[in-house]
Amino acid sequence: MSEMIARRSVVRGVGKSMPARILTNAEMETMLETSDEWIVQRTGIRQRHIAGAGETTSTLGLAAARAALANAKMQPADIDLVIVATATPDNTFPATAVEIQHGLGISHGFAFDMQAVCSGFVYAVATADMYLKAGQARRALVIGAETFSRILDWEDRTTCVLFGDGAGAVVLEAVVTPADAGDDAPGIIVSSLRSDGAHKDKLFVDGGPSTTQTVGHLRMQGREVFKHAVAMITDVIDDVLAKAGVTVDDIDWFVPHQANVRIVEGAAKKLGIPLEKVVVTVDRHGNTSAASVPLALEHAVTAGMIKKGDLVLLEAMGGGFTWGATLIRW
Ligand code: ACO
Repeated sequence: MSEMIARRSVVRGVGKSMPARILTNAEMETMLETSDEWIVQRTGIRQRHIAGAGETTSTLGLAAARAALANAKMQPADIDLVIVATATPDNTFPATAVEIQHGLGISHGFAFDMQAVCSGFVYAVATADMYLKAGQARRALVIGAETFSRILDWEDRTTCVLFGDGAGAVVLEAVVTPADAGDDAPGIIVSSLRSDGAHKDKLFVDGGPSTTQTVGHLRMQGREVFKHAVAMITDVIDDVLAKAGVTVDDIDWFVPHQANVRIVEGAAKKLGIPLEKVVVTVDRHGNTSAASVPLALEHAVTAGMIKKGDLVLLEAMGGGFTWGATLIRW
């Protein structure tokens, strides 16, 4: 007899952690030939946070994880899966996720890093969802944490003004739901992930353990990235909407990767999502890569924008290229 129940991954809590140090556009004007006007007009970014001495991807990620656990009213012992989406791990290995697991004081379950650059959090949520649905874990911490300031070329004004540091996290819990509950039951409904290495030279880091034995610096053909971004984002969103059998009008909140306001607004316009439903936080933290979607999500939840029962669409695109979207009933 077939099982009449299924598991859904329900969001139980959100959290974030930002370095105290804020670097404003005005301060960037003193470091480089740039202007607040240029940066705001092209990107919407007004400031970014920069990790200080003693702050690393794991310390930020751990603080975000603790905040998400507190928000979920859970203890570290409740967690049996930790996934950290990052392109800026503390070390080449061990995984930053294992460091955070240890920082939480737990040694049961398992932890690993996910590397999909700016799409990392969406990839990690989709991956955690698979483990929870399959009964391989019960409660997952999914963390997006980055210290991009450490891989920027601070003399390259075309890239260094765009990125920042920070961490965001969510707690997901597997909840038994009738198999025919439909899309009104809370939890992750569906995800869609894509990648295409043909674009690897458009956004990459020019170093690594197996090539240069250095960490390297971020390199980007900004215009080329921009050219592909809107089409790829809208394509993968169309895919999740079709898989879920919903239309764009059913979306209550659009929580996109916070890279650039123009990309976000271009995608929203092409999809037909009104800007009142779009969560934008890039102005206050710049592009924090894998941390950007959970930071925007944390903001929308704690500000009381996202409410129980809302249909929430996450989206990201990044180096590789990688891109993806996830649809969640809150
Ligand atoms: N300050 C002042 N002037 C600048 C700066 C700066 N920080 N950076 C570049 N310029 C100059 C350039 O030198 C150029 O001058 P020129 O015309 O004399 O040669 C001029 O501004 C225009 O440069 P472009 O690169 O053509 O500017 P564009 O309008 O394409 O904007 C930007 C650049 C903002 C990077 C844009 O291409 C973009 O947003 N691309 C997407 C990149 C992105 O968001 N990546 C994030 C990672 S991928 C993702 O997350 C989706």
